[in-house]
Amino acid sequence: MKSQYLLPTYARLPITLTRGKGMYVWDSEGNKYLDFFSGLAVDNLGHCPLVVTKALQDQTKKLLHVSNVFGIAEQGELAEKLVKLSGLHQVFFCNSGAEAVEACLKFARYHSLKVRESHCFEILVAENSFHGRTYGALSATMQKKYQAGFGPLLPGFKSVPFGDLEAMVKGVTDQTCAILVEPIQGEGGVRIPSSGYLPGLRRLCDEKKILLILDEVQTGMGRTGSLFAHQRYGIKPDLMALSKALGSGFPIGACLASQAVSESVEPGIHASTFGGNPLACRAALATLGIISKKTFIDRVATAGSFFLEGLKKIQKKHSLIGEARGMGFMLACELKEPVGNEIVGRCLERGLLINAIQGKVLRFVPPLIIKKREIIKGLDILAGVLEERDKERR
Ligand SMILES: Cc1ncc(COP(=O)(O)O)c(C=O)c1O
Repeated sequence: MKSQYLLPTYARLPITLTRGKGMYVWDSEGNKYLDFFSGLAVDNLGHCPLVVTKALQDQTKKLLHVSNVFGIAEQGELAEKLVKLSGLHQVFFCNSGAEAVEACLKFARYHSLKVRESHCFEILVAENSFHGRTYGALSATMQKKYQAGFGPLLPGFKSVPFGDLEAMVKGVTDQTCAILVEPIQGEGGVRIPSSGYLPGLRRLCDEKKILLILDEVQTGMGRTGSLFAHQRYGIKPDLMALSKALGSGFPIGACLASQAVSESVEPGIHASTFGGNPLACRAALATLGIISKKTFIDRVATAGSFFLEGLKKIQKKHSLIGEARGMGFMLACELKEPVGNEIVGRCLERGLLINAIQGKVLRFVPPLIIKKREIIKGLDILAGVLEERDKERR
């Protein structure tokens, strides 16, 4: 790859991927890899799913792009589908996760300006969160390593420990307009709060008349064993950010809003040139056609448990692994030493793609179509790598 022409924002692995099909990708030298990375929780239907590539091919013959100044039939259809599946009221389309979060932040502040006597702009967020790299999303991202060097950030964000309901209760002031959290922290290390956390936040927001914003960019689209992670807790947010797997690799983001928030939105307050263009919407419609099926989602939950059991067995044998955790196919192993990148490299050499977070956590986010035999194959590779490492240290 001609990397000398690219700004060095990424610490890239030493392979160039050129082709993918289902659970596998191939590099420029023809080597094949089992993919437990999924383009970072994007390729939920595997690589190049036929329904999506066919929909895209069909749409390229009709219309690639028109402005949101005009009606876009595919966008209306996709919005209807998302509204029916989420129980929310209306949708704004954009192109990425950070943009979906930006839209949520803007609509939340604008809503508060419209419905409250004084302008409340403060948004409570969680420590260790990740919401994206644009200035608004970055200001809500409470990890020093992402924020360092970019100040001053947007004012009005206050953080409290993730999963701590009491801290959130104490954090709310008469300046607060919303709470923004991920149902499970992804980039923060696959951290799962207790089952009472999201319902507790919902109650708190209702009581204080503030908005609950859920960032489901990573947890959404079936990843955790329900279409949206919050659905398993029987609650609904006021605003929700989606992206990643929504377009199966075609860039698209969405901000879904409740009826109350929708009512405060007017023409001109937010926009995106490409947001919800016909191609992106066809990709998302085709994706949802499969992912929203109950049989598909239910299998994620059961097959995900099988994967987690496998990780726990590995954990028992290898002292390097402190904890194995996760939900559906959002899984992780906490390492007792910061050797995540080394493990990733060794797995890569043996034909398995995994990801390490902050060097300390191995993350497994395979395509949701993964079969038992592929779970076993990947876990065998991981166990082999750990055994090899143990032997070298004896
Ligand atoms: C929870 C969450 N929100 C937002 C984002 C930002 O998405 P994007 O990289 O598409 O801007 C990410 C990306 O990893 C994410 O995991």
